[in-house]
Amino acid sequence: MIDSFITDQTAELRIDGKTYHLPIIVGAEGEKAIDIRGLRRQTGYITLDSGYMNTGSCASTITFLDGEKGTLCYRGYAIEDLAENCTFVEVAYLLVHGSLPTRQELAEFSEMLGRYALLHEDMIRFFDSYPPNAPPMAILSSMVNSLCSFYPEMTENPYENIDKMAARLLSKVRTIAAFSYKKSLGQPLVYPRHDLSYCANFLNMMFDSPVRPYKIRDEVVAALNKLLILHADHEQNCSTSTVRLVGSARVNLYASISAGISALWGPLHGGANQAVMEMLENIHHYENGDCRKYVERAKDPDDPFRLVGFGHRVYKTFDPRMRIIKKACDEVLETLNISDPLLDIAKQLEEIALNDEYFVERHLYPNVDFYSGIIYRAIGIPNNMFTVMFALGRLPGWIAHWKEMWDDPDWKIGRPRQVYIGPPRRPFVPIDQR
Ligand code: ACO
Repeated sequence: MIDSFITDQTAELRIDGKTYHLPIIVGAEGEKAIDIRGLRRQTGYITLDSGYMNTGSCASTITFLDGEKGTLCYRGYAIEDLAENCTFVEVAYLLVHGSLPTRQELAEFSEMLGRYALLHEDMIRFFDSYPPNAPPMAILSSMVNSLCSFYPEMTENPYENIDKMAARLLSKVRTIAAFSYKKSLGQPLVYPRHDLSYCANFLNMMFDSPVRPYKIRDEVVAALNKLLILHADHEQNCSTSTVRLVGSARVNLYASISAGISALWGPLHGGANQAVMEMLENIHHYENGDCRKYVERAKDPDDPFRLVGFGHRVYKTFDPRMRIIKKACDEVLETLNISDPLLDIAKQLEEIALNDEYFVERHLYPNVDFYSGIIYRAIGIPNNMFTVMFALGRLPGWIAHWKEMWDDPDWKIGRPRQVYIGPPRRPFVPIDQR
């Protein structure tokens, strides 16, 4: 499919007096790329690109983002429209299937999500084996990996069963997340209910208790839908690239997504939302709400500290998701009649950073994680579950990318090369001569 985007233009590369013509590709939104797929074969050279700053690892039809303009679209639809008008389940369907669902398709998909919500009872016993303070991301990644032992039929012919696998994962990861929270509190598990929508069901499993029934509020359900939609995909980020790389070895979907969950855990990626809250709490408790010391530390070249929730590999302007979340944050707090000093600190920090030369020069703007934690906190989700929430939101994107990779006629196992800079070949030294 990518071949239809190859233009008549070529880039010239001169090595050792010989000129090579490399095809130029222009993507559907005008993104320009030099096609080096034949480079090593033709020239003997590879390219070196640490952190893949300039490398397109695949062609994709799922998500487009423009880091300079600050725009983001899933399957061609603007994130603002989806966040305003859709539920998370509709967006999950869109990402996995490529088109927005009709009423009938949505009803069928929702029915599957309800049908697959239960966990195998043997899996529930896993929770008893973790220490009470086990990181929820560790529990989540290992339990998702274990799903393939409980549902092996899904791994034998994955492409045919992709609908079932997608629904199973979306539904069961939600149950695993809520159960891990209940276990960490030592409270009885609250089982999923068929009569509740996806987000209402999750909130109910998290917060209902035999002594204090949980009252599901539409505003909270709407806020959760919005947050999950905003996290649902972000093209070739670290965790999605991990899912694709692991899946490229023809590993089943569950194992690939388990690897993605591990990648997301990192504080430079999905773990940032938890780190933001910890930073804001520290500023509140130990600095009396004064952000200046943190800003100075972030600017100090001798201090490894970074202002968490700022900066992005691709966005060099405002992250469009951040704008939506910031607005939602104000709305949720107002609706729930909560006054959170951390929101004031966050706004103060944003203001200082946006006017500081260091941040302006480096195009460091608040990212998606900067305000999301304040909403999660307002609806009762604790800090150590924030990255799990991110994983729940990112699931449809991971599934869509795995599916796209699996079906790609140009698919190849992911296997980068390297430039070796270690010792040259040398004689072996027996142990008693070392
Ligand atoms: N605070 C202070 N300085 C920063 C920050 C920050 N948050 N982010 C980048 N910089 C500085 C770097 O020190 C560097 O400065 P220099 O040119 O003087 O050396 C410059 O900005 C460029 O930074 P890089 O690390 O090269 O940028 P990169 O694109 O590799 O990193 C990243 C992007 C990892 C997101 C980075 O900005 C960061 O660490 N941010 C904080 C963690 C965070 O919020 N992560 C969540 C990202 S969103 C997501 O994954 C969902």
